[in-house]
Amino acid sequence: MSSLKYLFSPKSIAVIGASRTPGKIGYEILENLKEYGFKGKLYPINPHATEVLGLKAYPSITEVPDEVDMAVIAIPAAAVPSVLEECGKKGVKVVVVISSGFKEVGNVELEEKIVEIARKYDMRLLGPNIFGIFYAGSYMNATFGPRNVVPGTIAFISQSGALGIALMGWTVLEGIGLSAIISVGNKADIDDADLIDFLGQDENTRVILIYMEGVKRAREFMNVARKVTTKKPIIVLKAGRSERGMRAVASHTGSLAGSDVIYNAAFKQCGVLRAMNVEEAFDWARAFASLPEPKGENVIIVTNGGGLGVMATDAAQDYGLKLLEPPKDLMDKFRRFMPPFGSPRNPVDLTGQATEREYHGAISAALGDNRVHSVIVLYCETAVADPIKVAEGILKAKQEASMEKPLVAAFIGGVNTARAIKFLNENGVPTYPTAERAVSSLAALYKWSSWRRRASQK
Ligand code: COA
Repeated sequence: MSSLKYLFSPKSIAVIGASRTPGKIGYEILENLKEYGFKGKLYPINPHATEVLGLKAYPSITEVPDEVDMAVIAIPAAAVPSVLEECGKKGVKVVVVISSGFKEVGNVELEEKIVEIARKYDMRLLGPNIFGIFYAGSYMNATFGPRNVVPGTIAFISQSGALGIALMGWTVLEGIGLSAIISVGNKADIDDADLIDFLGQDENTRVILIYMEGVKRAREFMNVARKVTTKKPIIVLKAGRSERGMRAVASHTGSLAGSDVIYNAAFKQCGVLRAMNVEEAFDWARAFASLPEPKGENVIIVTNGGGLGVMATDAAQDYGLKLLEPPKDLMDKFRRFMPPFGSPRNPVDLTGQATEREYHGAISAALGDNRVHSVIVLYCETAVADPIKVAEGILKAKQEASMEKPLVAAFIGGVNTARAIKFLNENGVPTYPTAERAVSSLAALYKWSSWRRRASQK
């Protein structure tokens, strides 16, 4: 089987079923490809058109004068086999079958047929029943989802189509940067194991997030996952946890959801982190995308609100983070940035009168001390401390620090606080609207890091 490089970095793409009508799937895919700035060649294929979106169209892929690496197919299912034969004869390396109407509706034979044709011509096949593929590295948005995906380092594999498209839009809103989005649908050929193997070696990807309903080749998945998680984290959002949920999975993608206990044990064995919901999955992914690995277990919490500090302390215990008892010399440093009624213990309470100056000072002290390995910053919006200025103070402390350490934040407040959260996220400080989410994300980093160290020593 040929490698997946043509799926992520094809030099040329044909869109088979490139409709002339805006709003139709084939049209939208071609438009996304063109407008997102795909650098290679694009060939619309449509027997009824001579031109689509200003590009010369061909009646069949066999008439394209150049080589075609990838074909995206958006025509009704029944016509897919004959078009695949043409792709095979043309020497296409990978086919992306958008069309629905295969195994997911009981059309098993038709699905087997397209896999057979793909194998015959040594073509890899993504799908069918998918919304496409996006890869930032080659400016390729071959999906009918939102166009302006934010480029970044999180690769997102989705077995659900509609949820995948919805989350594409949501990541744009949240400013979450993606290296790749792969809709896998029925996984007739290319599956999670293939993709994590490729993405594990992809230098544009730092973390892999998978929405899955079922695994196809469990052993291969576990073997590859075990290898990949020693290099980069894999987060899985596995749906179908409940008995009713499992039945829903069976009627959705036809996957066998399997016993949840077995999945949990399998994920644990290969270092895969399991998130319980979408929010948690992306929270963790955001942290993994920008944080360095911690060099030790000692965490310091810096806050301007005592209550928030207590909640973060509880969460730290729940998630297994170790809070440092600050040595006296470090407490003395912290004291310089708080009034006499503040607390230099952990949580370091700068009190409600803290401004960006106190935040900057206390965080710098923590980041500059080699007994501290990670820092959680908490902020409650007050009239004395503009959230944007506090955010700038935090960022400055991070940029000035001589040692690279994980730094996460939680900002709680109104409209300006939301802007500060966005600003910090855009500048590589994972920031959340609750203390628990910040703690959970840092804890996920610790969990993966300790797995990675144990697994690489074996
Ligand atoms: N080669 C190239 N183009 C062809 C063709 C062929 N063999 N046969 C038809 N076409 C052209 C059509 O003429 C049409 O272009 P036009 O609008 O300019 O006339 C275009 O391809 C699309 O064909 P059409 O028959 O109009 O299909 P459609 O756009 O209504 O539906 C699918 C095609 C693939 C979108 C549809 O069958 C489908 O599967 N939809 C579900 C997709 C989905 O939800 N996937 C999962 C997401 S998670």
